[in-house]
Amino acid sequence: MQNVTSPFSATDFIQAKIERRKLSLVTCYDYTFARLLSKTVVDGILVGDSAAMVMHGHSTTISATVDLIRLHTEAVSRGAPNKFVIADMPFLSYRKGLAAALDSAHALLAAGAIAVKIEGVDGHEDVIERLVQSGIPVMGHLGLQPQSVRAYGGFRVQGRSDESARDICSRARALEQLGAFAMVLECIPAGLAQEITCALHIPTIGIGAGAGCDGQILVLQDLLGLNPSFHPKFARPFLDGADRVLNAVACFDQAVKAGTFPTTEESYS
Ligand code: KIV
Repeated sequence: MQNVTSPFSATDFIQAKIERRKLSLVTCYDYTFARLLSKTVVDGILVGDSAAMVMHGHSTTISATVDLIRLHTEAVSRGAPNKFVIADMPFLSYRKGLAAALDSAHALLAAGAIAVKIEGVDGHEDVIERLVQSGIPVMGHLGLQPQSVRAYGGFRVQGRSDESARDICSRARALEQLGAFAMVLECIPAGLAQEITCALHIPTIGIGAGAGCDGQILVLQDLLGLNPSFHPKFARPFLDGADRVLNAVACFDQAVKAGTFPTTEESYS
């Protein structure tokens, strides 16, 4: 079911940049967390292909499929119908020809997304342009593009050499010209991200790209500290979630074994 009640739209992203209002986005993959996020003031929710890693335990995002992102998008948009939900176009889903790419995007919009995110730009300019012309807001994603992890030989900071920095800048300009409403800049030097941010009219949303971006995004599970063994320096945990969960489950276990759970009040007569 199409999410049409979001108070935020793609043009609001650009307006926020004009008004120098920072944008906050988080990832989400499920109904329960989406319901909680629906009560917050975050500006957008990304159903990222990081779902393949965070929810399904894969080592990269390459295993994500349109069907997988569609299912997670349905759950999130049911939980947060008031939010601007962006769905990730998974690996290769926009590289098999225009018609196939449009079908993929269509499936994600039918699942409740308002916008789609696509990594990179070279070789799929036609897809981005056609989606935009079709009224589908497109968010770009430059810098570390996790779907290219095999080409990089690992999850590595991008844009450190002059040539790589120049490439990212020119792709950012190309994305703006193709009509993207915003772009994620992932794991690039803060100075480069700031330079791109100043050069563009559309907002940049950073993750590991420093404070000069127009907004920031974090994976919700990282923000909640649910995965303490994964801590790149940009992923600040705002909660000691793992400890709290472990403690709650230990309390439950103790109560069951001590016979103090359930009580009469917690039982039916
Ligand atoms: O898939 C994802 O979660 C992302 C964010 C890290 C931006 O692309």
